[in-house]
Amino acid sequence: MLPSALLLASFASFAPFAPYTYAFSIPPLPHLNFLGIADAQKHQQPLHDTLDAWIQQEERIALDKLLANVSPGGRNVEGQGVAPGTVVASPSQAGPDYWYQWVRDAAITMNTLVDVYAEDTSSPLGGKLSSILDAYTSLQQMIQHTSNPSGTFDDLSGLGEPKFEIDGTSFTGSWGRPQRDGPALRALTLIHYLHEYNASHPTLWTSSRADDFFAPFYEASMPPTSVIKADLEYVSHYWNQSGFDLWEEVEGLHFFTLMVSARSLREGSQLARAFGDLGAADWYTLQAGYIENLLSKFWNKQKGHLVETLWSKRSGLDCGLLLGSLHALPADGSDDDAVYPPWSDKILASLLALTRDQRDRFPINSSPWSSSDDEEVDADEEEPFEGTGLGRYPEDTYNGYSTTHHGNPWFLCTSSAAEVLYRTASHISTSANLIISPTSMPFYTSLLASSSLDVNEGAYGPSDALFHSIIERLGAVGDQFLAVVRRHVDAEGSMSEQFDKETGFMTGARDLTWSYGAFLQAVRARKVMKSL
Ligand code: NOJ
Ligand code: NOJ
Repeated sequence: MLPSALLLASFASFAPFAPYTYAFSIPPLPHLNFLGIADAQKHQQPLHDTLDAWIQQEERIALDKLLANVSPGGRNVEGQGVAPGTVVASPSQAGPDYWYQWVRDAAITMNTLVDVYAEDTSSPLGGKLSSILDAYTSLQQMIQHTSNPSGTFDDLSGLGEPKFEIDGTSFTGSWGRPQRDGPALRALTLIHYLHEYNASHPTLWTSSRADDFFAPFYEASMPPTSVIKADLEYVSHYWNQSGFDLWEEVEGLHFFTLMVSARSLREGSQLARAFGDLGAADWYTLQAGYIENLLSKFWNKQKGHLVETLWSKRSGLDCGLLLGSLHALPADGSDDDAVYPPWSDKILASLLALTRDQRDRFPINSSPWSSSDDEEVDADEEEPFEGTGLGRYPEDTYNGYSTTHHGNPWFLCTSSAAEVLYRTASHISTSANLIISPTSMPFYTSLLASSSLDVNEGAYGPSDALFHSIIERLGAVGDQFLAVVRRHVDAEGSMSEQFDKETGFMTGARDLTWSYGAFLQAVRARKVMKSL
């Protein structure tokens, strides 16, 4: 059934926004085609190149290497029985075996590809990406209906299954399941894709093709017949049940999972409304509100930071806090209704605490300023906030192969810190307003520790020197995090999952798809910041 003309207006108003506008976009190198980075990656990047030059080159390499792990078309997956629409987590099939499709990794990767698609929907790359996204949608519909150890489609319990075989069949080995972030992330990605597709095909909504086009994505019918509706039903009915965290290890209620759940229901509610599915729209909004309420419990006042899992023995410091904040941003770039956006006091306080922990924990993070043995200074008070290699969480014992050792810094976590800082800089500069509260005071103090400015609580605007220094430092420290990424990639610009905390060499699953995606997202946020 086509939505009524009345609702068209609401879809039209939610459709054509351009999430981010760039002052410049990187023209493709003439010798590169869609997958062809081969020439550029053969020689090592000269070390004296500026970070800007490296980022520009690495952006192309990361996209190429990410696409290599995506079917159809990816060179690491072609001819190996990988179902079209699949994202393999890594081409590594042993030691460790990441030759699967994780629902989370796939959704996050496809969301990155939606951003790339939106940059130029009518280019050859745009066309290719749109067919990849269509294949992804069909495959997800298929795997939603595939019975698996988490359950079935009938009561939707099967949607909590975290990973599938590369041909789309169920994975039956023992695993930390269910994981409830997958359906939320998938809904967010597909809603984002619908927005972008609709924006670039403005006549589609009213055309006779509309029914056919939208049916796999959203239909009001119950039981669900479309991917997004099934995911929203899953999230809205299961969010208050415990499940495994994004790292697949602990059972409970998790910040990352709940953040993306709430956002998926907020976006889903708007979508449902556009399709005349008003009862569902209200239901999703109601549940989103409950989740946001629960999220307030993740702030631990004594500790002075957020915690990733409620009632856990762990400290709670976790890269999942950063990822939860980033992946729960409204797709339209509006900031108003985000819970714990990257620039919020509580995320910044948590980032500071996590960074300090990881700086001291990993030998490769030692830098000249931390080597001085000035006992009388309270290190935390005096030391500036600087970019450093970040891992998943302090207590981590997974070294990329087994959990009997120690954790290491991860590429995707290090990139996510950069993205938080770039987005914070953009937010402060566009809102022309910076409020330093007791909660964010330690963050801003250590951010500016290397300057001569005094940081005091209060409100600041473009007429204050402090306002500009803070924006400048946010960008500079974001760049330090990306400089850490740069230091640990190999000569071809490849990224695995982790880099060794002592030697700095890459370790864990090679060519981890998510590592490339997280880097691309940070670079995207950096471009927005630079365009302001
Ligand atoms: C382990 C990570 O902890 C998890 O988040 C991820 O989904 C899988 N590896 C696959 O990349
Ligand atoms: C009934 C509504 O009609 C449906 O569309 C909505 O999503 C469910 N309630 C919630 O499960």
